[in-house]
Amino acid sequence: MAVDLLLGLQWGDEGKGKIVDVLTKNYDIIARFQGGPNAGHTLEFDGIKHVLHTIPSGIFHEEAINVVGNGVVIDPVIFRKELANLSQFEIDIKSRLLISRKAHLILPTHRLLDAASETAKGKAKIGSTLKGIGPTYMDKTGRNGLRVGDLELSNWKDKYRALADKHEAMIHFYNVDIQYNLQELEAEFFSAIETLKKLTFIDSEEYLFQAQKEGKGILAEGAQGSLLDIDFGTYPYVTSSNTTAAGACTGLGVAPNQIGKVYGIFKAYTTRVGSGPFPTELFDEDGATMGRVGNEFGATTGRPRRCGWLDLVALKYAVQINGVTHLMMMKSDVLSGFETIKVCTAYHYQGKKISHLPYNIEASNVTPIYTELKGWEQDLTKMNSEDQLPKTLMDYIEFLEEALEVPIQIVSVGPDRTQTIHRELAVS
Ligand code: IMP
Repeated sequence: MAVDLLLGLQWGDEGKGKIVDVLTKNYDIIARFQGGPNAGHTLEFDGIKHVLHTIPSGIFHEEAINVVGNGVVIDPVIFRKELANLSQFEIDIKSRLLISRKAHLILPTHRLLDAASETAKGKAKIGSTLKGIGPTYMDKTGRNGLRVGDLELSNWKDKYRALADKHEAMIHFYNVDIQYNLQELEAEFFSAIETLKKLTFIDSEEYLFQAQKEGKGILAEGAQGSLLDIDFGTYPYVTSSNTTAAGACTGLGVAPNQIGKVYGIFKAYTTRVGSGPFPTELFDEDGATMGRVGNEFGATTGRPRRCGWLDLVALKYAVQINGVTHLMMMKSDVLSGFETIKVCTAYHYQGKKISHLPYNIEASNVTPIYTELKGWEQDLTKMNSEDQLPKTLMDYIEFLEEALEVPIQIVSVGPDRTQTIHRELAVS
């Protein structure tokens, strides 16, 4: 059976957690393939909001096995907090949450290095979540990292020490004022490692290979968004992993010819948290309204998200790079009440009109060209079928489908599981 993928198509925070939760009933296994606790996947059901950072979003479904793949980076301290938050539910964590031995560990000094690097950058900072993501992936590609599987070896603490000492020297090199008590941080880390060691470690690529052979349904869950991809995002204002479809192959060990459906998730407008170019960003009342109505604050850092109109040029690029087969439009309800809805359909770039994403989309290079559509007044949050949706919203949907050449299968009209409209489409 093919492995289906679910990815964010913008700058993250598209609502992947909610959709994985909605789709999980169709799958036996949910597998995270990249990123770490920089992600904040929000799920809402039974009137309660749950935020997951590293644990896959299928964890609340009794039947689903959840795999943390080799492409993920794990902070044992944050992981332990996530587990503590789950303790109120009767989840058999030992059998339902499996961790790849090849996943890399985030050390306390990785977090400190992240802070030192950002401080040293001053105004040019990436706006990192400061969870140590960049430094951990640097050690991975630099062939110095500490992996989950190392914890099963007797000498893992030697490896830890050598790495942490190197990091301390690097922190001094940055020559910035970072206050920390490494002894305290290490005590917390070592104690969290003991909790981690109680979980089930697996050779996840082999596990997934066998599961596929047995005909199990697997959904690969991405984190962040395509425009934060280390290769295809708005570099250097990106995260340090491949958030795009190819990342699922390397982050889980799934062969490219085994990929089935690719679900691409986007918001009906655009948001971004952290620094970096954002051509359709709004600095006016419309942007403030999106932020307020959409409750646009980071699930991990609490930072307000920057808001703007939908950028169809960037979205088309993400659809192409990922080979998206099914689209899901989130937060449609947030646009209710806007008289006019704008969509960026092209850019002015170096004196020309272009409709692809160029090398550099800084404000000094590109000016968005908008198409205006009529908005809708109705509150969508209680609607539960396509035939209830306002005509002008359907016009918006059709406009996007025509430009993107991919059908929109789900229209989300609120944060809860139940506020999800499945459209009848020709594709299954
Ligand atoms: P890092 O991955 O924490 O180093 O952050 C790099 C950039 O990606 C920053 O602009 C972050 O705000 C952004 N970022 C990282 N994770 C997420 C996420 O889950 N949602 C949205 N933005 C994110």
